[in-house]
Amino acid sequence: MRLPVSFLLMLSLLVLSPPGYAADPVRARQGMVVSNDLIASRVGVEVLRQGGNAVDAAIAVGLALAVTYPAAGNVGGGGFMLIRLADGATTFIDFREKAPASATRDMYRTVRNPEAIRSDYQGQQMRMALSESIVGWRAPGVPGTVRGLEMASRNYGKLPWKQVVTPAVLLARDGFEVHFNLAESLKNSTRLLGRFPETKRVFLRDENFYQPGETFQQPDLAAVLQRVADQGSKGFYEGETARLIAKAMQENGGEITLEDLKNYHAVERKPLETTYNGHHIFTAPPPSSGGVGIVQMLGMLEGSGYQEGGFNAASTWHYVAEVMRRYYADRSEYLADPDFYAVPLERLLDKRYLAARRATIARDKASTSEEILPGKAAGYESMETTHYSVVDAAGNAVAVTYTLNGSYGSGVTVPGTGILLNNEMDDFATKPGEPNMFGLVQGEANKVEPGKRPLSSMTPTIVTKDGKLRMVVGSPGGGRIINAVFQAILNVVDFQMNAQDAVDAPRIHHQWQPDKLYVQEGVSPDTRVLLKAMGHDVTPSSYIGRLQAIVVREDGWLEGGSNSIPHGGAVGY
Ligand code: GLY
Repeated sequence: MRLPVSFLLMLSLLVLSPPGYAADPVRARQGMVVSNDLIASRVGVEVLRQGGNAVDAAIAVGLALAVTYPAAGNVGGGGFMLIRLADGATTFIDFREKAPASATRDMYRTVRNPEAIRSDYQGQQMRMALSESIVGWRAPGVPGTVRGLEMASRNYGKLPWKQVVTPAVLLARDGFEVHFNLAESLKNSTRLLGRFPETKRVFLRDENFYQPGETFQQPDLAAVLQRVADQGSKGFYEGETARLIAKAMQENGGEITLEDLKNYHAVERKPLETTYNGHHIFTAPPPSSGGVGIVQMLGMLEGSGYQEGGFNAASTWHYVAEVMRRYYADRSEYLADPDFYAVPLERLLDKRYLAARRATIARDKASTSEEILPGKAAGYESMETTHYSVVDAAGNAVAVTYTLNGSYGSGVTVPGTGILLNNEMDDFATKPGEPNMFGLVQGEANKVEPGKRPLSSMTPTIVTKDGKLRMVVGSPGGGRIINAVFQAILNVVDFQMNAQDAVDAPRIHHQWQPDKLYVQEGVSPDTRVLLKAMGHDVTPSSYIGRLQAIVVREDGWLEGGSNSIPHGGAVGY
């Protein structure tokens, strides 16, 4: 039977056109901000409209999120900012927290809070030993956010510092309307937030919980931000704010001193770079483990023809999972703060090494993680953290991922400041050489040392094509961040998805150990059967990152895609 040409054409379009999901991306011509919180995204766009560049907007968004998204937005934590200027120059500002000067390798060997409940990746409550590296006054590393944002402003911003800090001061002072998710999140975090009187007072209103539609004012935080606006980072790391932090630490058995605060510095590093299928990728160097993952996994995929079955085909997922397995096997053995540990980057990123890794992948059969060496699996990583992406009218692009680590960090709020402190010390291998609660051994490279930054998974990433901006992307999600960002890149570069489809499309996650292939809803039952037949231990998972992406189309239009709709998302102009 001969089929009409028009039918064949329609069929080929069905096969070749990218899959479409529910929502359209937000589209804008000039500038765009995509974040987990719409108020913060609007603050960023307002700064762009005032003549600020993407760096100015990124600073304003970061400080606004510290007010409106207390679970992860912060001044009491740290993170990474990746910048690509319109002229092609790139840099990476590392404002990851540092271990205090008194920190030692074995400081968390004694578990003093033996039982607590936390959620695992499936949202299931699980009982686990709760170390002092996770909750309370010994859990925070020295915060880096304010120093990092100030460095960005000094070196790359256009507007006066005070102008970009002021929106956050006003949000904290005058308050903002609590939305449903925030009210739920605060109330559902009572077990953690209710432990510490100041946190209970500020964030739970002593259990007269905030309701959606109420106004949430934070006068103490407004005063802190005002000092930052007036005095720059000195207004945080010295003077009244520093005094209050150090005093609370001393009174509660914490480690951070006035000296630790004063000595904290952010640092500029060179982004990692690679090429992939005609695109150029800029991503996070150590102490992030994420950029190495992006470069390794893209390097293993390139030229493999992995995508020939199309998006969401079992053969495609299988190959992607095998690439993930191989990267995660390397991850914890070799990665740590490069100022303390000689990360063997050249070897890990060598194309010949990656080709040799690729050669061990079978098309139709899962490997077992036992046969993929070397490597030591990472322990538990919190799924919180937040990411936002910014592009301005000139084409400058900024990707920021920053965090308190766990949701609401260590749970402690410094009295009189409204500052929630991180629990980033738990991102170190707190018990090197000993199995953690999953029976996994963590590496010495990431042991606690004074002044060191813990290994991170945060992976802010920027993609260009022919020298022009193509994508700005990042995600929260602990160890899952890397795979979420990786798949967003594949969705745009290999499957030609728009920004919203690229973040809505189902994702998978494999992290070598445990030897499980996590799949989101949207990977069909038939596909799961095929993956199982290849030998994968297919495990459903609802949470594999929360992407915030900007994609630049060939015609210059910006597209914003967000996994945080409706309370977060893209705002453009
Ligand atoms: N605390 C999350 C990360 O740095 O990966």
